[in-house]
Amino acid sequence: MANSFSGADMSLRTDKAVQRGPALQFTVDDQLVDAFSGESVAAALFAVGRRELRQSPRDSAPRGMFCMMGSCQECLVWVGQRQVPACQVPVAAGLAVQTLSFRRQHLD
Ligand code: FES
Repeated sequence: MANSFSGADMSLRTDKAVQRGPALQFTVDDQLVDAFSGESVAAALFAVGRRELRQSPRDSAPRGMFCMMGSCQECLVWVGQRQVPACQVPVAAGLAVQTLSFRRQHLD
């Protein structure tokens, strides 16, 4: 499995005055993502440089995190059989997340 969201890509996280939970990995669209316990899926993806989570159904414009508090629904992803805002889902080891575009291409 390719791992394109890890290692040096994690440079957007600050290292000063932050106590992190244990390091873990989860997957987004079958790609491993490095994260830390306590982060949301959206925060972990933002930190590794992934900004686009879906495309607008109206004009196919890229859409991603906006409010980071569960209000805008711009960050919707699939976790299991539920569509949820990525900013409201805590990362967990082995968590499998799928973007709407990926799921539409591979599962629908
Ligand atoms: S960024 Fe607005 S609901 Fe997640």
